[in-house]
Amino acid sequence: MTSTSARQSCVVGTGHAHGKATLVGEHTAVYGLPAIAIPLPGLTVDAVARFAAESPPPGRNTMRHILDREYLTCRFTCDPDDSTTGVQFGPAIAVRAALRRWMIDHDSVEVSVGSSIPPARGLGSSAALAAAAVRAVANLLGESLEDRVLFELVQCGKQVAHGRASGVDAATVIAPEPVWFEADIAHPIVSGLDAALVLADSGVGGNTRQAVEVARNVLGSRRADARGLLAKAAAITECAVTALEAGQAAALGCQMTEFHAFLHKLGVSTARLDRLVSAALRAGAHGAKLTGAGLGGCMLALTEPDNAAAVSAALADAGAQRTWTLPLGGWLR
Ligand code: PMV
Repeated sequence: MTSTSARQSCVVGTGHAHGKATLVGEHTAVYGLPAIAIPLPGLTVDAVARFAAESPPPGRNTMRHILDREYLTCRFTCDPDDSTTGVQFGPAIAVRAALRRWMIDHDSVEVSVGSSIPPARGLGSSAALAAAAVRAVANLLGESLEDRVLFELVQCGKQVAHGRASGVDAATVIAPEPVWFEADIAHPIVSGLDAALVLADSGVGGNTRQAVEVARNVLGSRRADARGLLAKAAAITECAVTALEAGQAAALGCQMTEFHAFLHKLGVSTARLDRLVSAALRAGAHGAKLTGAGLGGCMLALTEPDNAAAVSAALADAGAQRTWTLPLGGWLR
């Protein structure tokens, strides 16, 4: 292992990543089919890395602002014997893989993260934590970090978390624009869509590992109906990207709602998520669906910008714990 002091280039390293929402293609992405996902620049993770033995120098304590973050703050070292669990675990695995790559002792670096992404809601919390943490470590060590390498390191953590991660989360939490994710590669999508997305938290945590298992009972079988379902899902995703690229909000919304029906058939929706989807559609949304693995977590609705407040209010009335509205036009152009 290389001596840490010889490689040190900063007193602290900092890193950033954002959340993501899958528009269509969750679960089928695990079987190699394409998925469309968008970055959520309003939901962010900031990480600070420092050498473990060092205390922050006076006046440079960048910890202070991140400790105010809303959903999660944590500090971890990357000792392989440290059996930290839950949201910390995947990021710690990713950081450990990064340190191994750069030949730095696993216990010589400590990472602190603050996140405004609610965990276990299908919004990319664990992937964003891992990405921000690895970026902070790279910054601390003065290592350059290509997106492909970062993607692979984040994937190490995601694989540990649920065994069959497609990579769509890892790709989107570091992407500046919507992505078409297929065969391990994220392709940027150019779109002039002028619409708003309303995200709603069902108030119940999802469970990706369990949901992937539930879906596998259907999609992983060798039966003809599994092949038929996958073909139908792929067709929906193709139509959705065509609509997104053409800026056709109503057509995209229809495909999203169809994909929700597909996910419902797989058994990964819940009564709460179905209720929220129905409420959004009744309030005039172009389309609505659960997002992420399901069995809890969030749903999203696509709507005209001037109808977003009505959709958001309808979702709150239908029991959403919290909603976020994202204008799509600003960053899709
Ligand atoms: O709920 P999340 O954000 O972990 O999303 C999982 C998406 C799945 O398609 C269910 C799994 C995957 O790795 O693609």
